Amino acid sequence: MAILLSTKAAIMAEWRDAMLAVDPSLDIRLFPDAGEPAEIEVAVCWSSHDMAELRRYPNLKLLVSMGAGVDHLLRAPGPPPGVPVARLKDDRLTTAMGEWVLLNVLRFHRQDAEYRAQQAQRLWRELPAPDTAQRRVGILGLGQLGTHAAGLLRVVGFPVLGWTRQPRQIEGVTCFAGAEGLRAMLGQTDILVCLLPLTPQTRGIINRETLALLPPGSFVINSGRGGHMVADDLLAALDSGHIAGAALDVFEPEPLPAEHRFWGHEKVLVWPHASSITIPRSAAPQVVENIHRLRQGRALINLVDFSAGY
Ligand code: GLV
Repeated sequence: MAILLSTKAAIMAEWRDAMLAVDPSLDIRLFPDAGEPAEIEVAVCWSSHDMAELRRYPNLKLLVSMGAGVDHLLRAPGPPPGVPVARLKDDRLTTAMGEWVLLNVLRFHRQDAEYRAQQAQRLWRELPAPDTAQRRVGILGLGQLGTHAAGLLRVVGFPVLGWTRQPRQIEGVTCFAGAEGLRAMLGQTDILVCLLPLTPQTRGIINRETLALLPPGSFVINSGRGGHMVADDLLAALDSGHIAGAALDVFEPEPLPAEHRFWGHEKVLVWPHASSITIPRSAAPQVVENIHRLRQGRALINLVDFSAGY
């Protein structure tokens, strides 16, 4: 059994070494040097890999995403038929995402942009004190990332709301579900945080209509996928002042083109898809665990539900 690794050239060797540190007997091939195609049984890929290329490996039995998201693997043409897909569920990814969400919620909540603008003018002036207990944070998506972020925000003292497609109960989080629930939550959300997986159902969920449901002066934080937001609708809401600021880590396309308005917009904080970066050393054990399970014919972990899209 051989394993094909395919990601950015700069981190390919780090991934290989991290997996070999867990099991030195693994036969790992770095794309494009796959060797004999029939020997490849597992592919561990990130978004750069063309799914059509995977059809070259007749004995492929498992595809693993090098991140929490799998939208890049599932979009047409998708993985070869019958090949299960696993994704990462990694504590390091989860805690890093929690930090990033907290950072940006606090930036907006504590009027950081306003104070920086005052600093630029050497202006010594207090702004009205923000009230944490009145600043409602609404999270789209209450999976591992959303639930963890919700817990951090609660500890700080924010009222936390959360939305999922199917109803969920999370202690201390006011939960909403479905289309009606989305409208209800948005009307009570001062800072909207998107941590959803990108699926056909969630594509474009941050749009003119949903942004209009947020109270005037609210903020948007997106670390799901660029496809969750209609960029022009968000820009229009920022320009009109209805949305007071946005922190964005994900875009469509990526990298964000140099001429895109987000780069220079005074109300937008741009991050280069870096809110939560996969660390091979942390992620490798679960990938190797799945390879061992496959070899032994045991149930695989962290499998993607194709019908749900994540
Ligand atoms: C990053 O975007 C990931 O899906 O892990």
